[in-house]
Amino acid sequence: MIVVPALLLIVLLGGKGAPRTEAYQVRKEISFNWIRDSKDVIRNQTAVLLRRDGYDADRLQVRTDDGYLLTVYRMLPKKSRLGVVLMHHGIRQSSDMWMYLGPKRSLAYQLYEAGYDVWFSNSRASPESDGHERLDRDSDHYWDFSFHEIGTEDLAAVIDYVLAATGRKTLHFVGYSEAGSAVLALLSELPGYNEKLSSVELMAPPAFMQYGQFAWIARMVQPIRALFPWSVYYTRDALPTQICTLFRNECCLLFGQMSDRGTDNGTRTERSPGSSSPAGRAGCFDLEDVSLKQLEHYRQIIASARFQQFDYGYAANLHRYKQKTPPDYCLWDVTARVALHYGNKDKTVDWRGVELLGRRLPKVSELQKILYKGYNHRDFYRNPKAQATVYANILKSIKRHASVQ
Ligand SMILES: *[C@@H]1O[C@H](CO)[C@@H](O)[C@H](O)[C@H]1NC(C)=O
Ligand SMILES: *[C@@H]1O[C@H](CO)[C@@H](O)[C@H](O)[C@H]1NC(C)=O
Repeated sequence: MIVVPALLLIVLLGGKGAPRTEAYQVRKEISFNWIRDSKDVIRNQTAVLLRRDGYDADRLQVRTDDGYLLTVYRMLPKKSRLGVVLMHHGIRQSSDMWMYLGPKRSLAYQLYEAGYDVWFSNSRASPESDGHERLDRDSDHYWDFSFHEIGTEDLAAVIDYVLAATGRKTLHFVGYSEAGSAVLALLSELPGYNEKLSSVELMAPPAFMQYGQFAWIARMVQPIRALFPWSVYYTRDALPTQICTLFRNECCLLFGQMSDRGTDNGTRTERSPGSSSPAGRAGCFDLEDVSLKQLEHYRQIIASARFQQFDYGYAANLHRYKQKTPPDYCLWDVTARVALHYGNKDKTVDWRGVELLGRRLPKVSELQKILYKGYNHRDFYRNPKAQATVYANILKSIKRHASVQ
């Protein structure tokens, strides 16, 4: 029942759109930590790619209040005259996504060369993070999170850690896709963090998603979803996972067909030499590797047309929020300077939703809402043309607020 929307959302948030060979060929030879079996994950892939591109990094660990062990990287040697930049990845990714375009073109390297102290964070359960101090990867509680916790727990812990380590009062935040939802949740739930961010650069941020082309499916599932308590879905033995265990090949086939994995031949889905590559598994990943709650939260946002907290159902909402329906995130509390970068060909995060977000945020000037013609969801980190367009604008925008530090 939730399988179809879950599959769909995985595809949607992974980004749809016809492959552009030009962009794909940039990093032909290496594998990226797109969600895959935990045993295949290269836990220090960001450092490995940085090394390959001629840079170096410290790999550090940040513990969240609720016990997750997150991995954070800092580029070395630090050149911090212009301040600190923290970069955060999207859903089903880790910080290695920032190296996708390679030397010269990647935003991270441009920021570093321009003189910033560049950091990368990884959220809970993402491929490069280190798990939890008590919870096992197979436990239900380990996966009990959505972008809400990534914002209010993970980003909060990382921001405090980075500021303490650098002795700075503020930093610049750069986020792709889900990182946008997470930081907006943080800044509205814990408004004190607004003062810690001198600028917030968001690429394709999902907040108002009702304009996407598959919104009708998300709405269709709503009544079915409302019949059962949320716990029926998110546990390890939940229906979606069971169905995929039972119909493994069908699930793999579906993912292979629908997601970009397995369909871009000779690109980042390819394993690096020496890593075991189960050929039959190309294009497949386990639902066990993704938090269903994360996908369900997005489905609810699409269906409700509101940027709101997780809907646990009538009774649990009353208990948790003291109201029947989940509260909206208070975007008027987001007083940090936010810049929105979005594409008119993005089928996941439709441009109309981002413009609506821009109208709800108090500190977004017209200048800071930038629409990129022809850009789809993934172009923001994998289109070589982004260097001259998106990244040039982000550098300019960060520089404009650098004096604030
Ligand atoms: C990554 O980890 C592997 C295995 O632990 C280690 O051999 C390698 O030196 C690490 N690479 C970098 C760049 O840190
Ligand atoms: C995929 O790549 C492999 C090896 O790189 C090659 O042998 C094969 O023909 C390619 N398949 C397609 C459909 O391009």
